Formats: sequence, structure tokens, C-alpha cells
Amino acid sequence: VSAVRAPEPGAPVRIGLLGCGTVGQAVVRTLIDGARTIERASGHRLEVGPVLVRDAARERPGIDPALLTTDPARVLDDPAVAIVVEVMGGVEPTLGYLRRALARGASVVTANKQLLSRHGPELLRAAEEAGAELRFEASACAAIPVIKVLRESLLAAEIRALIGIVNGTTNYILTEMAREGTSYAEALARAQELGYAEADPTEDVGGADAAAKMAILASIAFHSRVLIDDVPYEGIDHLQAEDLAHAEALGFVVKLVGVARLLNGSVSVRVYPALVPRGHRLAAIGGPDNAVLLESRATRQIMLVGPGAGGDETASAVLADILSVLGTHQGSFLHNALADAGRPIAPPGSVPSAFYLRTSVADRPGVLARVAQIFADEGLSILSVVQSGYGDEASLVLILHEGIEDSMQRAVARIRALDDVRDDPVMLRVLGSGEGGE
Ligand code: NAP
Ligand code: HSE
Repeated sequence: VSAVRAPEPGAPVRIGLLGCGTVGQAVVRTLIDGARTIERASGHRLEVGPVLVRDAARERPGIDPALLTTDPARVLDDPAVAIVVEVMGGVEPTLGYLRRALARGASVVTANKQLLSRHGPELLRAAEEAGAELRFEASACAAIPVIKVLRESLLAAEIRALIGIVNGTTNYILTEMAREGTSYAEALARAQELGYAEADPTEDVGGADAAAKMAILASIAFHSRVLIDDVPYEGIDHLQAEDLAHAEALGFVVKLVGVARLLNGSVSVRVYPALVPRGHRLAAIGGPDNAVLLESRATRQIMLVGPGAGGDETASAVLADILSVLGTHQGSFLHNALADAGRPIAPPGSVPSAFYLRTSVADRPGVLARVAQIFADEGLSILSVVQSGYGDEASLVLILHEGIEDSMQRAVARIRALDDVRDDPVMLRVLGSGEGGE
């Protein structure tokens, strides 16, 4: 057991997978791409495989077929496999598989909310008895590290409410229907194509997926045992277009929400489609994104937002759990913070940004052309121009598409030198794509 949890410093660690679908393929790719980072942080080199599938002949882009097996024993029973990543889903035979892996002391990292929301307590006990780890960040809200925040950063915060959008597929469907006028059936089909939906999408649209996640999150937030059977849930499958239209006209958006609260010391967890006022923080969460609002007296409201579904997004949480199982080696945090991927610092003048420029100009023919020519010379493209005022009061306000800082600085200097320009131009940067914008 301890060979799993505390491998010899520098010893390689073998990761076996159960499942190689949307999430599993992304996990394999991420483990290979992130191998160096993991090794630097944990001191362990990871070895990947074997990987259990149903159909070894199925095409899996970028996955070495030699890694695949249809024999579960090769992952579950081989003592060389120290960590079992479960991304096959379902309750059976998965439950039996995880019991088997844990019983021999392998640690388990799983993305399976249906299994955990039914058998989590039993599996956690099995892990504890074996001295192994059971980690499940990927089971709720994909890439958002909400479980780690709840069980580490906010462990003592006395959370009293956890309210969220915890299903990516339904949020995507509702967003598409509202924004694009797409039909329910088209939006669901697209969510399936994009890898957001469960193998059986009625889990998503009927609310069972969100209920399972809320059971897991409420268990951790309230330090209590909450199972999916404790969570009354409804989905979005019975919503009618007429009610969505009424909600919109009344200033609401409709979202599938999970609401978990402490009520006089009792735990209440429910999932339902709700009218959310347009100014509410959850109203802005669109597409497959998820968000969780955590409320406590001390911390007031903390909102975590991010991708709630998808292969690469979920693989990120699986990787984080693997790293938690391995542990970061002594000094690793400092090492990561202070050193040293050897990346050079980008010269400030080479950085791209969009820009705002206001300049006071003489109100006479050709001024705008001269300003525009300077931008053209510097390879900067104008998005919009507004002239305000007349005569001595005239000023031009321009927004420029993304360009290089040095080019903009040269353009500003040349504009300042024009006879037509009265005062120093004012230049501000505009946040855009790559800086949190669309
Ligand atoms: P998926 O694409 O359907 O992949 C499932 C994989 O498991 C496939 O490779 C399948 O093999 C294998 N498998 C299933 N049953 C098996 C069995 N009895 N024996 C052997 N192999 C079996 O599903 P997914 O979307 O990757 O989801 C996997 C898990 O992650 C689920 O628990 C899901 O709830 C969870 N999750 C998914 C997402 C997401 O955005 N997709 C996000 C978070 C969590 P074949 O390929 O040969 O059929
Ligand atoms: N089917 C799930 C969703 C995947 O759409 O949220 C992430 O758990």
C-alpha cells in the first residue's frame, strides 16, 4: 500500500485506466503532454497503461493501440499499476472494479458521479482501510477545482449554502436555445457531438447528473453524508418554449440549478430549472460552463466558474488528482513559484493588445486621413472612429484592433507631432481575446 502512496523518490509510477472514451483519451494525451511538469512537481516519472476498453479495435486518434486491453484484470490486479483512473462510467461493473483495485491498495481517481453519489461512503471506507486514496475532482464541474477548494481551502469556513449550475450539457442547450434560437433537439445533438453529454443523455436533461454532483458537493460542503436518493430533482426535458419566452420577457433567464442549503441544521439539496433574474451572478454563465456559489458567514460569497464538461477540461481535474495522490515533493511549491521553466521574459514592446486613442484635432479636411495613414503605415487596423465636437473642441476617438505595443507607441508619437493635433493624445489599452474576452 505504502508503495502506492509514497513511492520511492524518483521511482516511476504506473497509471492504469478504465475507459478510453471522450475523457479517457484526453487523460492519456494530457498525461503524455504533461509528463515533464508532473515529474518536476512530484519527483515521479509516470508510465501510462494498460487502458481498459470494450472494443480494442475502435479508432482512437492519438492513442497507441498497444496500450489497450479488454481484460480488466490487467488494470485491476497488476501490482505494478499504482493508480487506477476510472473514466468508464456506470455503476456496474464499475463498483466491483473499484472495490477490487482499492482492496489491493491501488489509489483510485474517478470522474464517476453516478457511482460516487450512490456508493461514495463505501468506497471511501474501502480506500481508508487499504491505506489508499480515492480522489474524484473530475466528478463535479469538470475543470473547476471545487472539491479541492471545499475540502482544503474552505474546510473550516462553515459553508451554509452552495448554489450552482453543475451540468454543462443542459446549460449549453438552454444557452443555445435562448441565444441562437436553436431547437432543443439540435442543441442536444450538438452537445453530444462536442463530448459534453453522458453516454445516456437522459442523465443530463432529466437532472440525474446534476443531482449526483450536488450530492457529492453537499457532502463535502456540509461535512455530511448526502446520497443521490436524498436529492429531489427535475430536468429541463419538460420545459416548454412558451415559458422560456415568458421568462425572457419578464427579465429572467432559465437555468438548471442545484441548490444546497443548511436549514435549521438540516441539509436540503434540490435540482430544478429556475427563473434567474438577469442581474444575478449565475445568469451570465453560458454554454457548457458551470459555476458554484459558496456562501459562508466568514467568506460571504465565493463563486467558482469554468468549463463544466468536455474531454480536455475533465482530464485537467484527473491530472490534478493524480498529482494530489503522488504529492508534490518537499520544496516543490516554492520551486514552482520561483523557478524555472527557463522561459524568457517577453519585451513589453512586443506584446499585442487592442487600443483606444483620443486625440484633439483641428477640424479641417484631411486630418482624419493623415491619422489613418499613420495607423496604416504602422500595420494597425482601425475598428471604429467617432468625431465629437467642432472647431477647437473637436476630438477623434478611435478603437484599434489588436496590434503590437511598439507599433502603437510609434503611431501615437507620430500623431502627437502632426500640426493638426493640439494636445497630447490619450492612449488606453482594450481587453480583448486572450485576456478574458470572447
Ligand atoms: P465515453 O466517451 O462513453 O467513454 C467510456 C469509455 O469506457 C469507453 O472507452 C468505453 O469503451 C469504456 N467502457 C465503458 N463500459 C465499459 C466496460 N463495461 N468495460 C470496459 N470498458 C468500458 O464516456 P466519457 O464521456 O468519457 O465519460 C466517462 C466518465 O467520465 C463518466 O463517468 C462521465 O460521467 C464522466 N465525466 C464525463 C465528462 C464529459 O464531459 N464527457 C465530464 C466529467 C465527468 P469503448 O470505447 O470500447 O466503448
Ligand atoms: N455530462 C456532464 C455535463 C459531463 O454535461 O455536465 C460533466 O460531468
